Amino acid sequence: MSSFQTSPGMRDILPPESSRWRAFTQVFADVVEAAGYQQLITPLLEDLGVFTRIGDATDVVTKEMYDFVDKGDRRVALRPEQTASVCRSFAQHRPVTPWKVFYSGPNFRYERPQRGRYRQFDQVGIEVLGVDDPMLDVEVIALAWEFYEQLGLQQVSLIINSLGEPDDRSRYVEALRTHFVAAGDALTEQSRTTLAKNPLRVLDSKREPDAPFIASAPQIADFYSDEAAAHFDAVQAGLRALDIPFTLEPKLVRGLDYYRRTIFEFQGGTLDSAQNALGGGGRYDGLVEALGGPATSGIGFALGVDRTLLACDDEGVFGAEPRDLDAFVVDVVGGIEAVKLTAELRQAGFAADRGYDNRSMKAQMKLANRSNAAVAVIVGEDELDAKTVVVKPMRGGDQQTIPRSELIAHLSRTLSQESGNHD
Ligand code: HAM
Repeated sequence: MSSFQTSPGMRDILPPESSRWRAFTQVFADVVEAAGYQQLITPLLEDLGVFTRIGDATDVVTKEMYDFVDKGDRRVALRPEQTASVCRSFAQHRPVTPWKVFYSGPNFRYERPQRGRYRQFDQVGIEVLGVDDPMLDVEVIALAWEFYEQLGLQQVSLIINSLGEPDDRSRYVEALRTHFVAAGDALTEQSRTTLAKNPLRVLDSKREPDAPFIASAPQIADFYSDEAAAHFDAVQAGLRALDIPFTLEPKLVRGLDYYRRTIFEFQGGTLDSAQNALGGGGRYDGLVEALGGPATSGIGFALGVDRTLLACDDEGVFGAEPRDLDAFVVDVVGGIEAVKLTAELRQAGFAADRGYDNRSMKAQMKLANRSNAAVAVIVGEDELDAKTVVVKPMRGGDQQTIPRSELIAHLSRTLSQESGNHD
């Protein structure tokens, strides 16, 4: 055993799984770029204050932050999510609105690791700043839906809610506080602690003794202003028009404090209920302001890559597909010939690997097999003298000796017939 291992909750993504991760990000980028989103890359590390704006009543901020003092005495943190970074970037650069961006990459939360919950995890996501139109909420949700379709996932359900305008939300939070305070000690201790910080989050409790009080709690819909109700109705009408199935979940509150109006979550049907959120998002009007920018409305989502790939495994879709090689050069003479041959193949656009260290023909053929190459190109003493090479198809068929000068043309002909996987 090696003396070092990855830290708890952090993982190596090894080949061929890593190629699946790259493909995942590419499919996501294709979906959102086709809708006018452009990539934003922000630093992994930001001033701690950027993330405390997420809300000091959230576990993400109070318990899970990877924060430290750097060598210049700055209080910094590894990002626990990217929405706050996007808003910081907007406030700093003041781009023209609407600003439609997408992102991907790792985030850090000091959580208790388990299947689908890690301390370093990846997200892909989008954010739009500067648009109030409820039809944007519809577009944002529809893009996540389209992405799940592209992956081939079938068992994804969408739940939505609205937290109302900021005033509606505040009045609702107060009503919840009164309601839960009246329950007194009948509420679990954990929920009483949550209540003191954020009454909304008590609705998230899955603990049995809390259930009757949650069931009888005031409903957010009774607190909507006309404007909030109209916005939410329009979002629902838009989703219906696009045939996107959804469930209204009045108790959905989500784990971050910055949300206002529309919120939503995508749940995977195959995962444990504690880790079944594949992704989520919503409106967060007010966050740009809190980060020193002009009053700007925002909406977006983030989808967990780790968890979504677990869901893909469970459903048997979007498997790892390493790129097969076109050719594997078996070098039994050593020296410069195989170097030149391999370089020529690669320059001609073939994916080519080779054997090294003058290993035996048998050992190199084994490697050729394992590489999944379409053909082995064998350079031996006789061939070198005769200026020929042997081309051996690895997936059936007879080997052929052909003039060295005709190799590229020969492979172009035969391999494009076989698979067409090079340009
Ligand atoms: P979030 O719900 O905290 O939202 O995270 C979004 C997704 O990231 C989750 O649904 C889950 O799939 C994944 N995720 C979160 N924590 C972990 C973890 N410890 N291990 C594995 N996966 C995890 C946000 O981050 C918001 N920034 C979303 C958003 C964007 N809202 C508006 N715009």
